[in-house]
Amino acid sequence: YASKDVLTEEGWRLKEQLGSRIYIPGHHYQRDEVIQFADDRGDSLRLAQLAAAKKEADYIIFCGVHFMAETADILTDQRQKVILPDRRAGCAMADMATIHQLERAWSHLQTQFGDTILPMTYINSTAEIKAFCGRHGGATLTSSNAGKMMQWALSQKQRILFLPDQHLGRNTGVQLGIPLNDMVVWDPVRESFEGDTGEHTQVILWKGFCTVHERFTAGNIADCRREDPDVQILVHPECDYEVVSQADFAGSTKYIIDVIDHAAAGSHWAIGTEMNLVNRLKHSHPHLHIRSLNPMMCACLTMNRIDLPHFVWSLAQIAAGTADNIISVPDAVARDAVLALERMLAQS
Ligand code: 13P
Ligand code: SF4
Repeated sequence: YASKDVLTEEGWRLKEQLGSRIYIPGHHYQRDEVIQFADDRGDSLRLAQLAAAKKEADYIIFCGVHFMAETADILTDQRQKVILPDRRAGCAMADMATIHQLERAWSHLQTQFGDTILPMTYINSTAEIKAFCGRHGGATLTSSNAGKMMQWALSQKQRILFLPDQHLGRNTGVQLGIPLNDMVVWDPVRESFEGDTGEHTQVILWKGFCTVHERFTAGNIADCRREDPDVQILVHPECDYEVVSQADFAGSTKYIIDVIDHAAAGSHWAIGTEMNLVNRLKHSHPHLHIRSLNPMMCACLTMNRIDLPHFVWSLAQIAAGTADNIISVPDAVARDAVLALERMLAQS
């Protein structure tokens, strides 16, 4: 057992020793004890763009979750190794769509709608789901380009299958002026629709969600506004439609940071997103009144699995020549998944 101070010191020593052999990207939800080591921080889109551009490092130590590390592996050179300090750092939402479920859903949708659907996937999905979308002409998207990508998809085909986050899909559809009645939920467990379908159906929403963002409710918004009439509500679009439609602002983690960076001194904010980011914004903006939209403070357990001991262990393994926890997407999957990612990167 080593204390936090000892581990932090060891982390900096190893990072310096490994120099340009390693590159450390970090997502905004990472713990303070880990994000301090990041060479670059970003939302999912920026982290994908950075991975695609970073060609010199031998090892990319990804401080984020599994689908982000897979995406980095797909976009980097063959010789570069992507390491996830704790392999158990998955994403509950990404786990809600398996390739087996998608293939069954697709055959059902083909029978009903023929060749009128384009599969689109939120980047929070497995490499196999991305590969399926790539093979069928679709693309990935993130919370910062969902509107643009959905518009692009509807210029290609009459309908979209939107995986796996029903809330981001619905919120983006409404933003583009698609009536709620023209969007229908597909339940992959029951293998059936929840609601009516027909010629009018434009968006088929996969019944997935984020277990962190589902905890922010319209009741929380009402409580915050009652307690503080001056409060402005700022949320991530993985929150449900009721929450996003009642919030003052909604956007990706980068957008949330930008809004707070430009907020008027003394203004009041309730933020609906992961706890580490909310706490960091609170501490770095002492001239603002910031609190979590849900007073219980919502943590993403898997993002938090990347902690100081795992991170320093990864550095030490590389230094010892025994790098472990390498995330490697099989070539056949990566070949199709990259098509979906490149269609997105070309438009971002
Ligand atoms: P961003 O792309 O907005 O950073 O979101 C990633 C994520 O997992 C949010 O839950
Ligand atoms: Fe996945 Fe939600 Fe965690 Fe983001 S916050 S990584 S969507 S479980």
